[in-house]
Amino acid sequence: MSRELLVGLDIGSSNIRVIAATLLEDFQLEIIGYSQLKSKGIKKGSLINFEAAYSSVDEAIAEAEKMAGTEFESAFVSISGAHIYSLNSSGRVTITNPRKEITVDDISAVINASKTVQLPHGKEILHVIPSQFIVDNNEGIKDPHGMVGETLEVEVHIIAADSMALQNFRRVVERAQLGIEEFILESVASAEAVLTEDEKNLGVLFINFGGGTTDISVYQNGVPVYSSVLPIGGEHVTNDIAICLKISTSEAEKLKFEYGYACSDFIERDEKIEIQEMVISRRELCKIIEVRVEELFTLIFSQIEKYFPSLSSIVITGDSANLNGLVDLLKKMLGEKMLPVKIGKPRFDGEVQIIGFQEKLMTPGFSTAIGLLLIGVINRMAQSELEKGSIVKKIIDSLKSIIGK
Ligand SMILES: Nc1ncnc2c1ncn2[C@@H]1O[C@H](COP(=O)(O)OP(=O)(O)OP(=O)(O)O)[C@@H](O)[C@H]1O
Ligand SMILES: [Mg+2]
Repeated sequence: MSRELLVGLDIGSSNIRVIAATLLEDFQLEIIGYSQLKSKGIKKGSLINFEAAYSSVDEAIAEAEKMAGTEFESAFVSISGAHIYSLNSSGRVTITNPRKEITVDDISAVINASKTVQLPHGKEILHVIPSQFIVDNNEGIKDPHGMVGETLEVEVHIIAADSMALQNFRRVVERAQLGIEEFILESVASAEAVLTEDEKNLGVLFINFGGGTTDISVYQNGVPVYSSVLPIGGEHVTNDIAICLKISTSEAEKLKFEYGYACSDFIERDEKIEIQEMVISRRELCKIIEVRVEELFTLIFSQIEKYFPSLSSIVITGDSANLNGLVDLLKKMLGEKMLPVKIGKPRFDGEVQIIGFQEKLMTPGFSTAIGLLLIGVINRMAQSELEKGSIVKKIIDSLKSIIGK
């Protein structure tokens, strides 16, 4: 296999991030260029100004291309926003061939059957992720290929997005002279970079706490069973600080970074901060942050309430996961539930080894962009397995369906 370039383009509400990597012979990734720029024209994950968004995406691509010393042809691109819709569905087919052997065609037929669902107006399917196959009432099968049976059933998690939103982002990226390999839901990409197989199998609430959106997903038995996006993120925290303290958003952002702590109980009552001619109480600043973050996580917990009993941990990533005191606040909120809470960073030593710029990129903000590259690797593996006609490797088992559609 020749050396090949993979590019991840993470179009966020606060930042545009691009990473380019060379796919080495043994499916290792060597990062050769990256960029991170403030994004414009995107709010809460949705496009609000085409020209502004185009210019920031174009600039971010150019910067990463310069560093990589090569031009990019196409990329895996993130998508998020409140328009994301998910549901669980199932499909069933009868095995018709005389030997009752389940073929690749039967598997695609049953997955197609699971896709016949009623979606809200204007939505299209982005991912269909099988959680299990059932052959003649035998549950829990990950890959039924080659088995024999009378009937084949599948349970899937379907993620859909607004067609118009996809079209708008497609136009932005294509105007920047870049082709799109696949749109990938932000949480699907970042989970790939952050979560271990164990975490995905044992049950995890995975949260990507970004600038304009917060992506929520629940993983069980290795795959997502719930996905949604709330149009609330770190920018709302910053805005609350700016409004309450009557300061600019850039000053508010600075205060949040330097003195912010999401659990105000931990801050001494008499600690003061001086900004310009003002003296404010640090605890008061932290209370403003806490109120918003607590509200966000209350919403998240209420959405996934029915999954709580099956969770083993909570993992939070996205640049807002850098907010100091976040784990303390969550522990306080969880009380009796006592689930371990972890800040998730992209893993460089996972199933796919990543080489280069670890210090700069192993941060919660880059989880999505790294995850997009990993999805790219899975995509290329699936392609090469198909070409060789050989047995599918373990790590692509659960995921090739995401990108294979
Ligand atoms: N050290 C920090 N402390 C607190 N907040 C931080 C810190 N670093 C970054 N943030 C916040 O992270 C947010 C940006 O997160 P991120 O870059 O993941 O968002 P994005 O991917 O651009 O947006 P989207 O929500 O659309 O995914 C900003 O609101 C910023 O204030
Ligand atoms: Mg993001």
